[in-house]
Amino acid sequence: MIQKPRGTEDLIDLKVREYFALEMIIRNVVDSFNYNEIKTPIFESLELFKKGVGEETDIVSKEMFTFADRKNRELTLRPEGTAPTVRAILENKMYINENLPLKLFYFGSMFRYERPQAGRNRQFNQFGIEVFGPKTPEIDSEIICLSSTILNTIGIEEYTIHLNYLVNGEQRKQYISDLKKYLKPKSLCDDCKKRIQVNPLRVLDCKIDANKFDDVIDMKDYLNQSDKDYFQTLIDNLNNIGIKPIIDKKLVRGLDYYTGFVYEVKDKKGSTLLGGGRYDELVKQLGNVDLPASGFAIGMERLLIALEEEKIYISVPNSLDAYIIALSEKAKQFSNILLLMLRKAGLKVDFDFMNRSMKSAFKQSEKLNSKNIIIIGDNELKENNVIIKNQLTKTEKKVAFDKIVDALVGE
Ligand code: HAM
Repeated sequence: MIQKPRGTEDLIDLKVREYFALEMIIRNVVDSFNYNEIKTPIFESLELFKKGVGEETDIVSKEMFTFADRKNRELTLRPEGTAPTVRAILENKMYINENLPLKLFYFGSMFRYERPQAGRNRQFNQFGIEVFGPKTPEIDSEIICLSSTILNTIGIEEYTIHLNYLVNGEQRKQYISDLKKYLKPKSLCDDCKKRIQVNPLRVLDCKIDANKFDDVIDMKDYLNQSDKDYFQTLIDNLNNIGIKPIIDKKLVRGLDYYTGFVYEVKDKKGSTLLGGGRYDELVKQLGNVDLPASGFAIGMERLLIALEEEKIYISVPNSLDAYIIALSEKAKQFSNILLLMLRKAGLKVDFDFMNRSMKSAFKQSEKLNSKNIIIIGDNELKENNVIIKNQLTKTEKKVAFDKIVDALVGE
């Protein structure tokens, strides 16, 4: 039997209901923050991620699904949504001043060739937001507030927000030079030995060595005064709305485009539910337009796992208003018309299409959580009525054809 590719998942039954319930809740929250949806292609040119995410990142150097099309163009299944969103706003010239701030959100599948484990798949779904235009602590605190509002709304109460501020400009050079000195005596994995030379910040994000850097030099000490003030205002703004982040000097994130605050939210088991930050150079880098930006993305599957662990069920179980059982060929024909009529009236109804015995059709209606069973035989057709069995009250009555909707709605 052909099986699904490693690191992919079939969403079925309750899982698919929970997924869409989660999506609906997030849509409501993000709508109240006045964001607009954007949908970008599932594949993009390889160049976009090399330039956008950074060639030395794990994502680009090891985890991408890249292929050549029939004309030998190098394409990549998107590993994340930020670079594609930037590409789209540049290509569609959405960055004109009247549009700012551009507040966008997306849902979509992302692809990374990672070692699959719980909460880490090769195809996974993200909800993300990106804001273009403002560079202020107010918009950054709105972004962090939006992510915590989503968690609070779905009922996840125990989580921690880890926050850091990346050092930029001249001070970054000094920090990098001191970081190299700090890292030099450490015994590191083979990848990190290379990373020290080409992109030493990535060492702090290494999945193998990460726990070796608790005493790492603090970026905060390298920030210039205006970055220090910005970071402090952001922390104050968050405190004012009841959000108390943990300042984490080791937090650098695994993507190269960040230039200011970075943050991650972890659940009580330490699994990272979401991450994001400010990336003021990416739009210029990809399209020569000076446009500051920040955003975050949530892993939808990680949220579903966290909900399951908390025993929070956000979807309502499937149920029917009525399940129709026909006892003769003529009754089947009539059922077709009845189904249409009831569905037009806004009722959720289904029919015994498998032609089951009466006993198993009844069982089936229970499995489908049907509030009523409608039985139609030749006798009922002659008398222009049907039998409606109310499964909740366990009562049964004959109802004239033209009163069926009333009888079901009145239940
Ligand atoms: P990221 O940290 O790479 O950031 O991914 C964001 C979230 O996606 C993670 O926190 C995690 O929940 C989920 N995720 C990542 N990889 C996997 C995986 N293999 N399986 C399941 N879930 C996964 C970004 O992607 C940035 N684009 C976020 C951003 C938006 N920054 C600014 N704007």
